[in-house]
Amino acid sequence: MSDKKRILLIDNEPGLCRMMEQILLDHGYLAKSYTSPHQAVEEFKASAWDLVITDIKMPGMSGLEVLQAIKAKQHDIPVIMITAYATVDMSIQALRKGAYDMLTKPFEPDELVYRVKNALQQRQLLEENRELRAELEEKFRFENIIGACDGLKSVLERVGRVASRDTSILVTGESGTGKELIAQAIHYNSPRREKRFVAINCGALPENLLESELFGYKKGAFTGATESRCGLLEAANGGTLFLDEVGNLPMNVQKTLLRFLQEKEFHRLGDTTPTRVDVRVLSATNSDLKEAIKSGAFREDLYYRLNVVNIHLPPLRERRSDIPLLAAHFIVQQNQKFKTAIKGFDSESLRMLSACEWPGNIRQLKNVIEACMAMETGEYISRDTLAQFIEADPDNCAVSDVTQQVNLDLPYTTALELFEADLLTGLLKRHSGNIDLAAREAGMNMVTMYRKIKRYGIRKGDY
Ligand SMILES: Nc1ncnc2c1ncn2[C@@H]1O[C@H](COP(=O)(O)OP(=O)(O)OP(=O)(O)O)[C@@H](O)[C@H]1O
Ligand SMILES: [Mg+2]
Repeated sequence: MSDKKRILLIDNEPGLCRMMEQILLDHGYLAKSYTSPHQAVEEFKASAWDLVITDIKMPGMSGLEVLQAIKAKQHDIPVIMITAYATVDMSIQALRKGAYDMLTKPFEPDELVYRVKNALQQRQLLEENRELRAELEEKFRFENIIGACDGLKSVLERVGRVASRDTSILVTGESGTGKELIAQAIHYNSPRREKRFVAINCGALPENLLESELFGYKKGAFTGATESRCGLLEAANGGTLFLDEVGNLPMNVQKTLLRFLQEKEFHRLGDTTPTRVDVRVLSATNSDLKEAIKSGAFREDLYYRLNVVNIHLPPLRERRSDIPLLAAHFIVQQNQKFKTAIKGFDSESLRMLSACEWPGNIRQLKNVIEACMAMETGEYISRDTLAQFIEADPDNCAVSDVTQQVNLDLPYTTALELFEADLLTGLLKRHSGNIDLAAREAGMNMVTMYRKIKRYGIRKGDY
């Protein structure tokens, strides 16, 4: 199919129709004109169009009726109305009913082309916007947040339940555990998803800047305020404001924010009239706010307003069973992004990956994987490649719960077997002895699983 834009023209004057058709054809559009509005509407319904230009005053069916019929089929198509001075009232009605633009008779060819270009550009912008939004919604679908371990699963279930309500949520967890990702997922799964998600790092700005960023200011509020400016709270109207590192909010700002949460209104700096907005507030912190309350650095009343629901994200070292899944997820993501074909980690490097402490949590894991993928020359990421990016000596890097029982003085293969035996016993326990499910989670088939159970002498009493 040609990618020429398709324009439907409707005017009861055959001369004008032919002229417009010719101009648009000359400018590389695919234009088709109709003198009968009924016929044109039928034609519109029968195939795909990018733009409609219709006269307002026609016998049989008015331009307004045409507009309505067209919008009923496809509400986002731009429609340009051709008007004459005698039809001002109708023009206003047409604009109200969703017409995109007006073209007043008589018009020059250039004017026609200019308005057509404009309308098509606008449509393209809208489409791009929609695609971007769809991409965002896809990115933050709960299914795309990885977490198989019980800890994160229950977190995600709770997030799913509270997302659609308007409750304030405080997300807590160490750095890199996914607090912002969860906040975004909450927004994009809430009725506010069409409006903005506005994030601000409360620790990144000095007090007076933070205040004017959040609340905006009126012209003349302070030296340098030469224009009035709206703040982030207003920018987030209808949507969600995400206060990151909320523990760093200065006392003064805490006070103003509390008043906003109570009364839904605030004052721009230097403004005596209050501004009202409808904003859901989500916040996150990796510090202990209870301690901050004790030491007088955080207001208790604000804490309870922000923390109507608490979502706590466990550190990665407490959910090591997610590491292989997360690794696979990031590898697929990077492969797509850079058109590479890394298949995964080999078994030794995966063991290393699972044993590390990950103080920087998922962000650190993601960065390490990206770095490994950039360096690796083979199909699988090897132990040597990984060792370049994990600071600790791989054999001494802090070990996971399961491997803690492994004696590091044993020969390597024996240690590995002990590790595997422990892991399989743990999986069997988790699945109440269901070998099929345990095998699936371990990523092996049933026959291999049986063979290993036999080889390691794992007995029913062990799980
Ligand atoms: N469960 C998850 N599944 C997939 N990706 C995740 C998950 N959790 C976090 N990530 C990714 O890890 C990175 C860090 O997450 P995020 O920025 O949300 O963490 P954070 O807790 O806000 O960190 P900080 O406290 O340092 O600001 C991001 O790239 C995010 O997409
Ligand atoms: Mg963050």
